Amino acid sequence: MPKIIFRSKEGDKVVDAREGETLLEVAERAGVGLFGGCGGAGVCGSCQVYIEPKYLEKINEASFEEQDLLEALPNGKVNSRLACQVKISDKLDGMVVEIP
Ligand code: FES
Repeated sequence: MPKIIFRSKEGDKVVDAREGETLLEVAERAGVGLFGGCGGAGVCGSCQVYIEPKYLEKINEASFEEQDLLEALPNGKVNSRLACQVKISDKLDGMVVEIP
């Protein structure tokens, strides 16, 4: 069971994730202050997070639609992803996810 570390102004929270769920589902279950405004459809940008850089190549690639949306966000960074589009796998164990 991979562990995800959510980092916010309140500090770090380590959460058990399940393979196959999305990063947004893990965050919502954990109550770390991240919400999906469009219900995980990948069209609103409210679930943007910053991924620990060394894990970027271990997560599923962003679609063109996701990349377009991330580039349009005012606080987007090179390590931004939409949490609703990131699928949990065992390879992500120990990943730090920063909540803007
Ligand atoms: S919940 Fe809207 S983009 Fe992820």
